[in-house]
Amino acid sequence: MPANAANRVIHHYLGHARELPWRALPGEPRADPYRVWLSEVMLQQTTVSTVAPRFERFVARWPTVDALAAAGDADVLCEWAGLGYYARARNLIVCAREVAARGGFPSSEADLRALPGIGDYSAAAIAAIAFGRAAAVVDTNVARVVARLHGLKQPSRSDIRALVETMTPPDQAGDFAQAMMDLGATICRPRAPECPVCPLREDCAARASGSPEEFPEPRVKRARPTRHGIARWIERDGALWLVRRPPRGMLGAMAALPGSDWTDLVQPLPSPPLAHVRHVFSHFALELAVVSGGEAPDDGWWQPLDRLGEVGLPTLYRRAAELVLARSEDRRAA
Ligand code: ADE
Repeated sequence: MPANAANRVIHHYLGHARELPWRALPGEPRADPYRVWLSEVMLQQTTVSTVAPRFERFVARWPTVDALAAAGDADVLCEWAGLGYYARARNLIVCAREVAARGGFPSSEADLRALPGIGDYSAAAIAAIAFGRAAAVVDTNVARVVARLHGLKQPSRSDIRALVETMTPPDQAGDFAQAMMDLGATICRPRAPECPVCPLREDCAARASGSPEEFPEPRVKRARPTRHGIARWIERDGALWLVRRPPRGMLGAMAALPGSDWTDLVQPLPSPPLAHVRHVFSHFALELAVVSGGEAPDDGWWQPLDRLGEVGLPTLYRRAAELVLARSEDRRAA
């Protein structure tokens, strides 16, 4: 690989960097570690366009790690509602308290990696972007750019890591990482890459092959099984009985409709359903049937229906509630 490929990527970034609310543009002082950490956690499984407005709302409410450390768990989970992967929010709270107690974020990749919810990728990204450390940042966008550059169809993770390490300029690791992420997101896209405007076009083996989108080959995806559950709609005097899910596991600690466990087999319904929701999680899809009435479990609360938006229902239950409420509206109108 030509020694100056990294320079070309950074040079292109100087003129094309996406303006993102957590980002310091090249030449500006480095971004606040709190904002970099928060953005990297939010971006772990969620797209930039979804994260951007949610990030702004979050930092307006808790502008510093100390402010977040002092927040109540339920308030943070409520603010996270709709972003999914709620273990991230639970870890975020624990991490904020740990960082506040030690007086700030550590700056080395290894010390960052030891904090709750920070894996290899996030530790490298925070070390490079917030602290200017010479860390090699590898996410799926970066991995695709590097695989194409070197014409690798089935690279291992360690192949890619070694190549990114070699390519990363130690004194510009943060800008380089963000430049590569932008390149992967905007030009070197999985399908229909825009090779003619790519700063690496002269160096790229995949482009030279004539079929850049064939690099790297997609990994074989496991089939996603379907699971089944029943949720209870228990309504009285304009209020709905809600519960908090167990602290660990799917949608852990989030507000929810009460209901059955989720099982591989279809469960018999006690009455005709008010609504059906299909929701796709990372490892399975859930078919949730919502039925009227049933025993209200002891632990829970009556939530006024006109303030349902304030409890931070995750998307699964928010959609279930919307369907049931739309159905009652229709019935009233009929
Ligand atoms: N995806 C993950 N981290 C990112 C960042 N810092 N900038 C843009 N996209 C990202």
